[in-house]
Amino acid sequence: MRLPRRALPPPRPHPPLLHLLVLLSFAVPETAAAPPRTSSIVGMAWPTKCTWLPLPTSGMSHSYTLFSKYHKIWKETKEAVSANDVSRQETISGVIALKGSMKYFDADFFNDSKLREMEDGAIEFNVPAFRDNRKLVALENGGLHNPSALVFKSSWNGESKISKRKSLDYPITSSVHRPSKDEDIAFMSIMELGELIRTKQVTSRELTDVFLRRLKRYSPVIKSVITVTDDLAYKQAKEADDLLEQGKYLGLLHGIPYGLKDIIAVPEYKTTWGSKTFENQVLDIEAYVYKRLKSTGAVLVAKLVTGSLAYDDIWFGGRTRNPWNIEEFSTGSSAGPAASTSAGMVPFAIGSETAGSITYPAARCGVTALRPTFGTVARTGVMSISESLDKLGPFCRSAIDCAVVLDEIRGKDAGDPSSREVDIEDPFHVDITQLTVGYLDSAEMEVVNVLSAKGVKLVPFKLNYTVESVQSILNITMDVDMLAHFDNWQREGLDNVYEAQDQWPVELRRARLIPAVEYLQAQRARGKLIREVKESFTVDAFIGNATDWELVCLGNLVGMPVAVVPTGFKSIEDPPKSGTRRRTTITTGIYAPPDHDHIALALAMAYQSVTDHHKQRPPIDDLGSDNDV
Ligand SMILES: *[C@@H]1O[C@H](CO)[C@@H](O)[C@H](O)[C@H]1NC(C)=O
Ligand SMILES: *[C@@H]1O[C@H](CO)[C@@H](O)[C@H](O)[C@H]1NC(C)=O
Ligand SMILES: *[C@@H]1O[C@H](CO)[C@@H](O)[C@H](O)[C@H]1NC(C)=O
Ligand SMILES: *[C@@H]1O[C@H](CO)[C@@H](O)[C@H](O)[C@H]1NC(C)=O
Repeated sequence: MRLPRRALPPPRPHPPLLHLLVLLSFAVPETAAAPPRTSSIVGMAWPTKCTWLPLPTSGMSHSYTLFSKYHKIWKETKEAVSANDVSRQETISGVIALKGSMKYFDADFFNDSKLREMEDGAIEFNVPAFRDNRKLVALENGGLHNPSALVFKSSWNGESKISKRKSLDYPITSSVHRPSKDEDIAFMSIMELGELIRTKQVTSRELTDVFLRRLKRYSPVIKSVITVTDDLAYKQAKEADDLLEQGKYLGLLHGIPYGLKDIIAVPEYKTTWGSKTFENQVLDIEAYVYKRLKSTGAVLVAKLVTGSLAYDDIWFGGRTRNPWNIEEFSTGSSAGPAASTSAGMVPFAIGSETAGSITYPAARCGVTALRPTFGTVARTGVMSISESLDKLGPFCRSAIDCAVVLDEIRGKDAGDPSSREVDIEDPFHVDITQLTVGYLDSAEMEVVNVLSAKGVKLVPFKLNYTVESVQSILNITMDVDMLAHFDNWQREGLDNVYEAQDQWPVELRRARLIPAVEYLQAQRARGKLIREVKESFTVDAFIGNATDWELVCLGNLVGMPVAVVPTGFKSIEDPPKSGTRRRTTITTGIYAPPDHDHIALALAMAYQSVTDHHKQRPPIDDLGSDNDV
């Protein structure tokens, strides 16, 4: 219902007020320039040109009430401009307008420089995305089409239960012998270590010693470890050894050491989220994934680096390095799980991905990893960026190990309403000769050729979708969800001490300017994207670049699984004259439809059964004399 307009003539705006109105209609400050972004997780250049928006014609017909409202804001905030902030007349006016409006967002706490940055970000990123999404899904009234991708479930039956499902049918590993060197033990697979434990060639205590030594030896250089959990590790190792003495063997993870990304809570130890602000935080919570691993007899040896608040590879203690080339960084945000697994500091680790945080560091550090179907592993006790995007997944030495770990950690929990019992079939029972697998232009042809030789039908492939702003849907979803979880952190100004000022702080301030309705239009656009991807997913799986940003955003918005598989090495750029063993790793992603993780894993296993890129050891002792590491 609309109230009848009052017949009062609007007051004549005096010049500054007119100017203000123009700015309120999204005029862009002339010199708006954005700083370059250096984040390697995003890896996208800051667009060099600013998007200029035409003035909406309706801007000239503001009602009297609007006029008086803006006039009031103007009066109230005119004095608020600090004296040293007079460099750009137009920007200051815009900042005044924004400052005035922020009280309607109940977020009246940003200073002028932050408001200016928010204004630039809103114009450059938010507004074009709003328009794209509206054009795509919201031109029609009535909500008959394009339902949101977010679904409300009224069921109260969310109790945790570890269902009595059949476990996977692992291949038998036999005739494994204990190597004499610790280093050779450190690079064995879970399958091999499990066999050493089961046949009592090694105790869990001995394995724990090997990995604790390596964690302590390499963490000062690689910076991939936040807390070594010695006491807990020795306690859990003793329990594993005692059980085995009593003739009780819990399965392949019995007695096997591992690490957790430090966004996963374990009681009595710090859970720092990689952030200065939370450096001393101890959460009395047993994360679901930790509970599961504990019940399999696995031994927690370390809380591993997460980039600060699960973004990139910078954390309160420094920046995590890539074991394959110590001069390089690991990318993130599962920096610790990737780098530590790569360096033989743990046999496997659990990391997480919202957008690229498993795929990027796994690719950079040359380890095999799985980003499972969304909802497969309950996230109870894990710091949350976005309820509809975050996933937990394993970093391992092989796809077989990823299957083993996934089998033990998957499941639904009451603490995570999005989790479910995903009905994954047994990857060890997939007949790959019955599969048709697509390959994108970006696929590594070696994988295509190897799988083809193994009898898989390979066809050129392309995903077909009309949604243009896949990356901005990801941004809107992730940033608003994150801000909801770190609202108070921002209000208290703690973002001022965040480790990488050009990352979360900027994105989360910009997220303040995303209206709820535009967030929901983004979820409707996401729903359309999901339907289109489903429609065009005409193959059983496809092979493509694991770190292509568009594909990373798409895969996460859809919730599809991807196996990240090392597929080779190339020389580093600018190698030292004295020679080097450092390498750049090459990786491929094997993507499957949601709930078909077993297909991606089966293909990765088939590839790894006849290649050995995944078994190569990084030159972590090649620190180089000419580098200041
Ligand atoms: C706004 O706050 C930030 C962080 O404390 C500070 O660096 C900046 O100088 C402030 N800007 C103004 C105009 O006060
Ligand atoms: C891609 O999708 C569009 C729109 O749905 C459709 O018109 C077109 O035929 C599709 N192309 C292919 C190659 O499937
Ligand atoms: C998404 O946000 C990142 C980080 O601020 C930015 O670099 C990127 O350009 C944004 N992309 C879009 C499409 O908004
Ligand atoms: C994969 O994507 C990354 C990031 O966009 C890019 O650097 C790399 O060259 C791509 N690889 C291939 C084979 O297209």
